[in-house]
Amino acid sequence: MSFLLKSVLIFIIGLAVIIITLLYFLQPNPIEPKNNEITIMEIDEKLISKINLGKSLYVTHCASCHGDNLQGQPNWSTKKDEDGHNLSPPLNGTGHTWHHSQEQLFSVIKYGFKIYNENYDGKMQGNDKLNDNDIWSILAYMKSVWPESIQKKYDSISKH
Ligand code: HEC
Repeated sequence: MSFLLKSVLIFIIGLAVIIITLLYFLQPNPIEPKNNEITIMEIDEKLISKINLGKSLYVTHCASCHGDNLQGQPNWSTKKDEDGHNLSPPLNGTGHTWHHSQEQLFSVIKYGFKIYNENYDGKMQGNDKLNDNDIWSILAYMKSVWPESIQKKYDSISKH
């Protein structure tokens, strides 16, 4: 074999190895989408169990005032209760709950309306029996009940 032929052969083999290696690495990795699916499923499962926890805590600690379906008390925005306090507003997205940031809602649930007015003597008191995770779970449950359009608006506002 001539020297020239040998060089050409080595060159071609080298080129083929490079091309095969490139093709191997450029191929879409079939394992990746599967992993993404698993992550999304895990997130969904986590969210669902969070919402379920929130729902059961809501039933125990909040539903007596805000209603079984977060609907609030009838005429909450125009009437007062028998001792002159505000009635419980709906938390289902029809009131103005979603106008407040997650952090504000969290604080209201944890510390009560006292955080706005230290002389507040109305019905929305703090919840020292609930830990932070409990409160975030209740918020996740509340949000899950809101109409989708409001959830989207809320998410876009909350990001600012
Ligand atoms: C004893 C009745 C009562 C209970 C129990 C109660 N709330 Fe309230 N809540 C109210 C009232 C009344 C208001 C309105 C405050 C006011 O104007 O005095 C309110 C206001 C709120 C607000 C602000 C809503 C808005 O649109 O600005 C949130 C959020 C809230 N409550 C969540 C909860 C959660 C969550 C629980 C359970 C952990 C709970 N509340 C338990 C009576 C109650």
